[in-house]
Amino acid sequence: MKAIVYHEYGSPDVLKLEEVQKPSPRDNEVLVKVQAVSVNRSDWETLVGSPLYARSGGLFKPGVEILGSDIAGRVEMAGRNVTRFKPGDEVFGLMWGYHGGFAEYACAPENALALKPAGLTFEAASTIPQAGVIALQGIRDKGQVGPGHKVLINGAGGGAGSFAIQLARLYGAEVTGVDSAGKFDFMRSLGADHVIDYTREDFTKNGKQYDMILDVIAYRSVFDYKRALKPDGSYFFVGGSTAIIFQTLLLGPWIRRTTGRNIRILAVQPNPKDMLDLTELMEAGKVVPVIDRQYPLSEVPQALRYLGEGHAKGKIVINV
Ligand SMILES: NC(=O)c1ccc[n+]([C@@H]2O[C@H](COP(=O)([O-])OP(=O)(O)OC[C@H]3O[C@@H](n4cnc5c(N)ncnc54)[C@H](OP(=O)(O)O)[C@@H]3O)[C@@H](O)[C@H]2O)c1
Repeated sequence: MKAIVYHEYGSPDVLKLEEVQKPSPRDNEVLVKVQAVSVNRSDWETLVGSPLYARSGGLFKPGVEILGSDIAGRVEMAGRNVTRFKPGDEVFGLMWGYHGGFAEYACAPENALALKPAGLTFEAASTIPQAGVIALQGIRDKGQVGPGHKVLINGAGGGAGSFAIQLARLYGAEVTGVDSAGKFDFMRSLGADHVIDYTREDFTKNGKQYDMILDVIAYRSVFDYKRALKPDGSYFFVGGSTAIIFQTLLLGPWIRRTTGRNIRILAVQPNPKDMLDLTELMEAGKVVPVIDRQYPLSEVPQALRYLGEGHAKGKIVINV
C-alpha cells in the first residue's frame, strides 16, 4: 500500500510517499481502508520532535514511521475477537498511539472505533477523534461550562479550538477566543463574543478574569494563568511547552490549596461514546465540523506545512 513515511525528525521535507507492507489486524483489531484522515498539531509536533513530549516514542529518531491518527474509512477485515464490526462497516476513530493513519490502510483496535453515522461524510467524521474530543472533555466534562460562564480558549482558531468555541457557546458561555488576528472573523463566525490577538495582547495581563480557560497552546507560567482566573476558576492545559506541563503538575496542587483556583492538565481519554456525542451534535446542526482545506495523500507534506506555519483555520483533512 501507499503511505507517507518518515525516518528522522525534521521539516515536512523528510516525509516521503512510499510503498510499504499492508498491515494485518491482530485478534482485537480491524483493518480499515482509510477514506479520510485529519491532520492535528500532534502530527506536526511528532514530525518536528518538539515540544519534548513529542519525542516520547524515540528521543533521537521517531518511534513510528507513519503519522496520522484520526481516521475514517471502511472495515476491510476484522480480527477473530472483534464483535462490533464486520467488513463493509463505515467507521471512524483515533489510532492507538496516534500513528499509522497517513496510509491507504490502517489497523485500529475495535474499542478505538465507532460506527460512522450514514449522514456524516468520512471527511467530517475524521475531524472528531482528537480535536472534537479534546474540546468536549475540556468544555463539557472537566470545565462543566454553563450559562453565563466566562470562558477563554487559547489557540481558538485551530482544530480543537474551533470545536471548543462552538461547544462553549452551545452551553451558554460568553466566549473569548485567542489566536492571531487573521483568524478573528473565523472565530467570531463560530460564536466567539470577544477575540484577542496573542501577538499584540497578553490575556493574562489585561485585568480580565475567567471562569474557565482551555489552553491548546500553553507557553506562559502557571502564575500568569492564575492571575487570569476568577477565585474559583479552572485552567486546563491541553498542549504547549513541556516546562508548563511540569509547572502545572508541581505547582497546580499548591495553587489549588492556597487560592482555590483549579490549575490542571487535561489528559484526554479517547472514547467512542464521546465521538458519537459529537456526531449527534453535528447531525442536529448544533456543531459544525470546520474543514479549511483538503489534500490528497501524496500532499501530506504540504498539508502539514500549512498547519505548522499557522495558516489553518479549523481542521485540515487528507482524502486518501
Ligand atoms: N492533553 C491531551 O490529552 C492531548 C491529547 C491530544 C492532543 N493534545 C494536544 O492538543 C493540542 C491540539 O492542538 P490543535 O490540533 O487544536 O492545534 P492547531 O489546530 O494547530 O491550533 C492551534 C492554534 O493556536 C494558534 N497559536 C499559535 N501560537 C499561539 C499562541 N502563542 N497563543 C495563542 N494561539 C496560538 C495557531 O495559530 P497561528 O499559528 O496562526 O498563530 C492555531 O490556530 C496539541 O498541542 C496536541 O499535542 C493534547
